[in-house]
Amino acid sequence: MSEPRQILVTSALPYANGSIHLGHMLEYIQTDMWVRFQKLRGNQCIYVCADDAHGSAIMLRAEKEGITPEQLIANVQAEHSSDFADFLVDFDNFHSTHSEENRELSGLIYARLRDAGHIATRSVTQYFDPEKGMFLADRFIKGTCPKCAAEDQYGDNCEKCGATYAPTELKNPKSAISGATPVLRDSQHFFFKLPDFQAMLQQWTRSGTLQDAVANKLAEWLDSGLQEWDISRDAPYFGFEIPGEPGKYFYVWLDAPIGYMASFKNLCARRPELDFDAFWNEGSKAELYHFIGKDIVNFHALFWPAMLEGAGFRKPSAVNVHGYLTVNGAKMSKSRGTFIKARTYLDHLQPEYLRYYYAAKLGRGVDDLDLNLEDFVQKVNSDLVGKVVNIASRCAGFIHKGNEGVMVAGDAAPELTEAFLAAAPSIADAYEGRDFGRAMREIMALADRANAWIADKAPWSLAKQEGKQDEVQAICAQGINLFRQLVIFLKPVLPVLAADAEAFLNVAPLTWNDHLSRLENHQLNPFKALMSRIEPAKVEAMVAASKEDLLAAEAKAPAGNGELAKDPLSAEIEFDTFAAVDLRVALIVKAEAVPGADKLLQLTLDIGDERRNVFSGIKSAYPDPSLLEGRLTMMVANLKPRKMRFGVSEGMVMAAGPGGEEIYLLSPDSGAKPGQRIK
Ligand code: MSP
Ligand code: ZN
Repeated sequence: MSEPRQILVTSALPYANGSIHLGHMLEYIQTDMWVRFQKLRGNQCIYVCADDAHGSAIMLRAEKEGITPEQLIANVQAEHSSDFADFLVDFDNFHSTHSEENRELSGLIYARLRDAGHIATRSVTQYFDPEKGMFLADRFIKGTCPKCAAEDQYGDNCEKCGATYAPTELKNPKSAISGATPVLRDSQHFFFKLPDFQAMLQQWTRSGTLQDAVANKLAEWLDSGLQEWDISRDAPYFGFEIPGEPGKYFYVWLDAPIGYMASFKNLCARRPELDFDAFWNEGSKAELYHFIGKDIVNFHALFWPAMLEGAGFRKPSAVNVHGYLTVNGAKMSKSRGTFIKARTYLDHLQPEYLRYYYAAKLGRGVDDLDLNLEDFVQKVNSDLVGKVVNIASRCAGFIHKGNEGVMVAGDAAPELTEAFLAAAPSIADAYEGRDFGRAMREIMALADRANAWIADKAPWSLAKQEGKQDEVQAICAQGINLFRQLVIFLKPVLPVLAADAEAFLNVAPLTWNDHLSRLENHQLNPFKALMSRIEPAKVEAMVAASKEDLLAAEAKAPAGNGELAKDPLSAEIEFDTFAAVDLRVALIVKAEAVPGADKLLQLTLDIGDERRNVFSGIKSAYPDPSLLEGRLTMMVANLKPRKMRFGVSEGMVMAAGPGGEEIYLLSPDSGAKPGQRIK
C-alpha cells in the first residue's frame, strides 16, 4: 500500500450577504464528495471553507438592516453552516475571513509582497458620493447610457444596448446609494504588480494545474499582457485596514483567498497533528486543491498563485473549475420559482437526492449543468430506489424469515463477485478525476447486473418450493453482499444511506478497501426502508415556495425591487409623497394559512367602511394565525391591488424585524378604531 496522501481541499468562500442556493450547492456537494472519497480511501484529507465577510456590499446591507456588519456576518454564518450541514457537506472547518488568523496572514502576505517590491502606489480618480462620504464602486453608480441614452444604467455597462464604458462617461450620474450626484476625487491606491509574475504564470497555468479549457481562456489574458491589480479601498469599508496605512483597507478579494489559509490555521489550533507550515510552505509535499466556479477563475489562477509565489508560500496543486447550474434548461429564475434556496429545498426534499443527481451529471469539464426537475425525480427514483435499495429490500426478508437474519457462507455468483471487484479501480479513478458521472454510470451498471441476476434466480418463487431453502439463502446472501459493495462505492455521495446500510448490515463504518472482502456467516439487523421515492408533489411545492420567497422579498422592499437608490432608509421624500400614503388602523377579522404557501397568511381586515383581503408573508412568525384574530394593526390601504397566485391582495400590513420568526406586527395603542387614518 502506498503512503497516505496529505490533501487540503477548499470550496470558494460564499459571500456573507446572502443565502446559499442550489447553484452554490453544486460546488459544495461536488467538493464534499471528492473529500469523502479521499477519506474513504484512507488519505488524510482536510476540507476547509469560510464565509467571505468583507466588502462594501456587506457594509451597506448591514446598514440597511440597522445592525453592525459583525452581527450580519454572525447571522449569515449560522445560516450558512446549518444549510451546509443539512446537505451533508462535512467541512473540517468553516471559518470567517473576518478573523484574527486572516488579519495576521493578510498583513504578513502584504508585507512580504511590499518588501519584495511587488506593491506600487499611485493616485486614482474616482466618483465619490459627497452625501454618503464614500467612493463609489461602478455598480453603485447609475446614469444615462452615453451610447443609446437608456436611463438608469449601471456604472460600467448598459443593459439595453450592451455598451461598456467608464462610469465617468455616464450622463447624469447618480449615486445608487444616496441618489446624490457624485463628484470626481483623487485618492492614493495600492497595486499588486501582477506583471512581475507573467513568466511564472505562463508556466504554472500550463503545468497540469488547470483544465484545458480554463488554461486556454487564461492564455488569452496572459498573451495580451497582465495589468497591475488595485488591492486597496478607502474608508468607509468593512475589511482589514492596511497595516501602516490609516484609512486604507484591503480590497475584499485580496484577503478572501487568504481566508483558505486562515481557516486551516484556525483548525490547526484544534488539531495538533496538523502542521500549518507543512501544508503551506514553499516546497510542501502536501496537495492543495481549490474547487471554484468559472466566474472566479482569474482570482484563483492568476492573482492567487502570484500572491503565494511573491510571499514565499506554495502554490495550488490544481484549481478545479466547474460550470454554472441551470434549472429546467434556463438560468435560475425567481419568477419561475427555479431560484431555489438551499433551505427551501431542504424543507421539502432529502439532501441525498440532489447529491446523487449532481454526481450523476458532473463531469471533469466546465460546462454548465442542468437540474431538470422531471429528470431529477425520474433518475433518483429509478437508480437509487429502483436499483440500489431494491437489491437489499428484495433479499433481506428471506434471510430474516428463513435463517434468522444470518447470511450464509459461499459465493452463489462468482462471475458477479469478480465483475464488482474488477470495476472498483475504474470507479476509483473516476472519483479521483472528478468524473462523478462516469463513476455513477459504472456503479449503476453493476446494480443492473445484480438486479438482473436476482430476477433470474427469483428467490421469491424458490421460497415457495419444497427443499429450495439453501438455494434461497445462498442467492439472498449474495444479493446482500453485492448491495454492500454498491454502498461502499456510493458512500462519498450518499453518506446517510451508507450509515443506514451499515446499521442494517451490522458492520463498522465501511472504508473503500472493505469492497475486497465479503460477509459470510454474518448476522444482519432488521431491515428498514433505506430510501423512499421522490414524490413529484414535493418538487412542485418546493417550486411554489421559491416563488413565495420572491414575494416575501418584494414585500420587504416594496419600492423598486429593493434597488439601493430607492431604499426608503436613505432617500428623502417630500411631505406630499408621504401624505399620499393612506395608512389606516385595521382590525384583523380573520387570519388563515394559505394552502400550498409556506410563508403566507391570508388576512381579512376591517377598515371601518370596508373589508380587505391581504396576503402577507408573516407566517413564519405567526404559526398559529388564529391568535391574530381580533387584533388591531396598521395597513397601507391605497396600495395598488396585486394579483397573486392565491388571489388578489388589496393592501399591506405593517411589521418590523428582519424576517423569519422575528416579524413584529405593528399595533396602535388601545382605543384606536378600525378605519382611522394614521397621520
Ligand atoms: N466570495 C466569492 C468567492 C471567494 S473565494 C476566495 C464568491 N462567492 S459566491 O457566494 O458568489 O460564490 C461562491 C461559489 O459558488 C463560487 O465558486 C461560485 O462560482 C459558485 N456559484 C455561485 N452561483 C452558482 C451557480 N448558479 N452555479 C454554480 N456555481 C455557482 O464568488
Ligand atoms: Zn445603452
